[in-house]
Amino acid sequence: MVDSIVERRTNRLVVDRRRKHGEVVSGNITWTETKVTPAERAQLLGHEASTIWLTGLSGSGKSTIAYELEKQLIWMGHVAYTLDGDNIRFGLSRDLSFAPEDRTENIRRIAEVCKLFNDAGILVVTAFISPYRVDRAMAREIVGADRFIETHLATAIEVCEERDPKGLYKKARAGAISDFTGISAPYESPENPSLLVDTSRMSVLESVSEIMRVVTPRFRQE
Ligand code: ADX
Repeated sequence: MVDSIVERRTNRLVVDRRRKHGEVVSGNITWTETKVTPAERAQLLGHEASTIWLTGLSGSGKSTIAYELEKQLIWMGHVAYTLDGDNIRFGLSRDLSFAPEDRTENIRRIAEVCKLFNDAGILVVTAFISPYRVDRAMAREIVGADRFIETHLATAIEVCEERDPKGLYKKARAGAISDFTGISAPYESPENPSLLVDTSRMSVLESVSEIMRVVTPRFRQE
């Protein structure tokens, strides 16, 4: 596995995990600062930017909750946008598999997109399995810890498999899908998430209001 977390502006190598994507090969480049401050953007938009990072197994409800959360944020007058695992793999990450190093590259790309959106002042909700702790740590590092709100949809695998909304657990059990998270690939639960939601015990709306309760004070301007 090949990759590294590189600190912006200094290009200092923070974490070195060898993998095939994401290596720094650009040279002779110079960072140029914007003339607009984050506070000016926040004043314009009425909220601070954050990334609400949903992590959990396939079938745990990430996409459903992310899009409901996005809708409610928009209704509240916020500028919010959802980045969804399956959707991103139709475009930005269409060249990536589910092998560990490709998942890492997927998360690196998404985190960079989150950072750009947040820099633009936009609230981002993400729905990626993001099964590896080190990858979520990388995402936190890229986005910035103050903006990164890790939310674990901690629904038990038995429940996710029972739901099996896309029929993928069935296929994975039959050996038709390799590297399937929870069956033939690991899911490393967050050790200290900002928020933990078990979607087998709460409805979609209850889950979303619980997330709202925790995240709103983090980005709302007084
Ligand atoms: S991640 O691990 O790189 O974060 P991501 O969230 O983008 O995964 O994509 C997961 C989605 O891809 C799942 O919701 C499922 O629909 C689909 N998928 C297809 N193959 C796999 C697989 N081997 N493991 C997990 N999800 C898969």
